[in-house]
Amino acid sequence: MDSSDSLLRANAPNIIQGGMGVSVSSWRLARRVAQLGEIGVISGTAIDTVVVRELQDGDPHDRRSVLRSYPDQEIVDYIIDRFYIEGGKADDEPYRLLPIHRYKPKVRSQRILSAATFSEVLLAKQGHDGVIGMNLLGKLKRYTLACCYGAMLADVDAVFIGAGIPTEEAQQLPKLAAGESARLRLDVDTAQAPDDVDGPFYYELDPADILSNPPQLDAPEFYPIVSSDLLARILDKKIPDGLIHGWIIEGPIAGGHNAPPRNKNTDEDGHPVYDERDIANLDQVAALGYPFYLAGGWGTPEKLQEALDRGAAGVQVGSLFSLTEESGYPTDYTRRLIRALHSGKAAIRTDGRTSPTGFPFKVVELDGTLAVPEIYEERTRICDLGYLRTPYVDAKGRLQGRCPGEPVDDYVRKGGDAADTEGRSCLCNALTANIGQAQIQKKSGKELSLFTGGDALVDLPLGSVDEPHYTAKDVIDYLYAGVAQPAAAAS
Ligand SMILES: Cc1cc2nc3c(=O)[nH]c(=O)nc-3n(C[C@H](O)[C@H](O)[C@H](O)COP(=O)(O)O)c2cc1C
Repeated sequence: MDSSDSLLRANAPNIIQGGMGVSVSSWRLARRVAQLGEIGVISGTAIDTVVVRELQDGDPHDRRSVLRSYPDQEIVDYIIDRFYIEGGKADDEPYRLLPIHRYKPKVRSQRILSAATFSEVLLAKQGHDGVIGMNLLGKLKRYTLACCYGAMLADVDAVFIGAGIPTEEAQQLPKLAAGESARLRLDVDTAQAPDDVDGPFYYELDPADILSNPPQLDAPEFYPIVSSDLLARILDKKIPDGLIHGWIIEGPIAGGHNAPPRNKNTDEDGHPVYDERDIANLDQVAALGYPFYLAGGWGTPEKLQEALDRGAAGVQVGSLFSLTEESGYPTDYTRRLIRALHSGKAAIRTDGRTSPTGFPFKVVELDGTLAVPEIYEERTRICDLGYLRTPYVDAKGRLQGRCPGEPVDDYVRKGGDAADTEGRSCLCNALTANIGQAQIQKKSGKELSLFTGGDALVDLPLGSVDEPHYTAKDVIDYLYAGVAQPAAAAS
């Protein structure tokens, strides 16, 4: 039997194409995966910047036409008037920036983000009846609500949230769907705050600020991405019944950010070292009674079969999909990465310092990128996108943001500890550079890339040095080859 006709595939999607920011899991990738009957996931992270840069690049995929179906055409006119450049900006011109989102919400920023996310989801949903999800990083609370709202206006099927503990998010989705105001609690540093300024602090979004007549919407399904059965159990207790639809259980060899190791051990270079305590107990996860998908090194037919045999609904795969023709990386980058991986010229390190979030981050060690220490040192720090800022109250009682990847003096002036800045990269600029949207900076020129991928990428099973390309269909066919049906179903 052709693997594409397998029983298992006819029954249910067993593969989630993991959400990959910034726009690596583009609408093109998510749409293709959903067309092939699996679950496609777009990334909501920094999607407002991605959209306004695309417009400044001459709108190569005609995003303006989907923006034209967004229910608030006033903000769409504003976005297009301000950012669209016919024929694209000159290569050596910097991109025009959006204002950085404030902690005291600016409605215009929320409206832009909602419209941008709407367009990404709508593009991903076109031309099929498959399932489209959206991935968000839990720590980036300023962006979550507007992203979710815009995605829901485009009828997103599911929201996946990792990198944080998404206790409140699940409860906000039904509120937004009902057109009610939603809010998320912020974890704020108040060390410098005047005595009369005290928390709790919230970030709020009122659908009535986004649309004059907020419609009744369907709330999407909600899938927390967790690293341990313990966290799954905590969320299961804290989140009201009916709001969780399943889990993604992500282990420490996954691409992107990883949970810190339970044992807090590091190697001589300060990078995290994991042990068996970082492996989730799947029996405990299964006992919670929801479907679950396994992520982090599960992207082979053998591992997919193992996942199904162990009671999982399937696997979430990121790294393999990140290098497909449909991913958000420009083709010359994927080719370079595939060639380097096949010829042993790229390695993966779990870097405990580089991400300003403080989470370990998988870095692809590749020439010419910020993974090379000398290249990293040459970059002049700047914080002009600000997605990874965290909130603090300044001495005047104002809620502000700071990021350990920003210029050290600024960070210290804002009350941060200089030691926190050591080894930090500007992931905002590096990850937008990865998708061909590098900013041109006054001081250090064109921003450079910093690629991420899981440990298993070094044994890349697809593409070759001579043919450094493959498609999302190749990934899905590869994963299903030889997989018959779940052992449980067979017995
Ligand atoms: C390039 C890349 C970017 C990623 N970005 C995110 C992200 O923004 N949010 C997230 O929850 N996971 C992210 N991930 C993790 C994937 O969604 C997925 O869970 C993981 O890649 C699965 O393990 P694998 O890398 O072994 O396939 C990223 C992974 C890659 C390779």
